[in-house]
Amino acid sequence: MKLDDIPVRLATAPDPLDSFRWPNADYTRTPYRVFTDEAIHEREMARIFRGPTWNYLALEAEIPEPGCFKTVQVGNVPVVVSRTPQGEVAAFVNRCAHRGATVVREEFGRADNHPCIYHQWNYDSAGSLCGVPYRRGLNGSGGYPADFKPAEHGLQRLRVALYKGLIFGSFSEDAPDLIEYLGPNIVMHLDRIFVKPVKVLGYHRQRISANWKLYFENIKDPYHAGLLHTFMATFGVYRSTQRGNTLLSPGGGHAVVYSVTQTDDAAGVREAYKGTTNKYQADFELAHPQLLEWTPDFHDGIGNLIISVFPNLVVHQILNTLATRQVRPLGTGGLELYWTYFGFEDDAAERTEARLRQLNLVGPAGYISMEDGEAIRLVQQSIAGERDASSFIEMGGRGPIVDADHVVTEVCTRGLWQQYARTMGFEPEVAR
Ligand SMILES: [Fe+2]
Repeated sequence: MKLDDIPVRLATAPDPLDSFRWPNADYTRTPYRVFTDEAIHEREMARIFRGPTWNYLALEAEIPEPGCFKTVQVGNVPVVVSRTPQGEVAAFVNRCAHRGATVVREEFGRADNHPCIYHQWNYDSAGSLCGVPYRRGLNGSGGYPADFKPAEHGLQRLRVALYKGLIFGSFSEDAPDLIEYLGPNIVMHLDRIFVKPVKVLGYHRQRISANWKLYFENIKDPYHAGLLHTFMATFGVYRSTQRGNTLLSPGGGHAVVYSVTQTDDAAGVREAYKGTTNKYQADFELAHPQLLEWTPDFHDGIGNLIISVFPNLVVHQILNTLATRQVRPLGTGGLELYWTYFGFEDDAAERTEARLRQLNLVGPAGYISMEDGEAIRLVQQSIAGERDASSFIEMGGRGPIVDADHVVTEVCTRGLWQQYARTMGFEPEVAR
């Protein structure tokens, strides 16, 4: 018997996660294990970020001209998003098809092609291989085999879809049409914000010592904001006493939460904050009240609005500040949050100045954003090694995951877990 005739059987060990199930059907509990388990993290990278989802990559305004590029991250995969000579948007994995080195090392730039420093394999702005040194050898020696075809060795491309100047990418042919993926509530509110061409004003990058999903939980939960963020409550940027809405996408994974400014009154606020220690400081005044001067861009009274799109995009409008936030996982216990601030192309200089002044509200050290990083770090710190316990998510009630006409609710957080569990294969038995 020759070696080739011996049948080879690869043993496939059962995946221990195949028996992992959500503990209840309405997602009012979340097992802490999902924030720390390495195997779950690996499955997230494959099934979520490289699965049938649309990941936010960048704004078109960041790569306006042919050759402009930006390096980003989808899950744990480095990606380049780039404008081709034809003016199209392309996205490709930033890892040389030869031996795996990072090809594009700059965060931004403009270039006709991208040579890898290691062996000078050279790629065009769509990621196709356009040059290979020593392809036919040197002085009759070496070279690639005669059947080497550069067209078969380009950088891995992502599908790209654009909406209102936002660029999304997907690794999967199974991701639905982008508009269908987003759903009507998200589309409606993206339409509201991206109503005309935008102008990028700047960036923040911050690292938070917490799992990426803890940030997504945080951003979907309006009820923490009036309690954790003293500045918000005290100066009325946001309070749970304000009129607002909580809107979900059909699968629950995306959400819009907003509040309408000045829809509460002093007596109601005092009553609501009675007993909360130091969260509402009625006698505080700002030394520079122009910080909160607000010239509305939209005429609906909404002063605070957060759109979240599973798995990696947040868009906010807080008074005059506008930004996208890209969530970049860094292992189980960390994330990078990448903020892109923008205004509109036709903004007058004073409007741009006001937006930049109000940046003090947001970002890593913002008066109303800095506490979020610390709050979720405290969660990550206290759940290390926890295999069985779950969090408790019942503000706003149990049962169906549906829109609410107020902001005193954690229903969007439950929606996130519903979509997460479906994508990961963790649905509770009863829901299957
Ligand atoms: Fe917050």
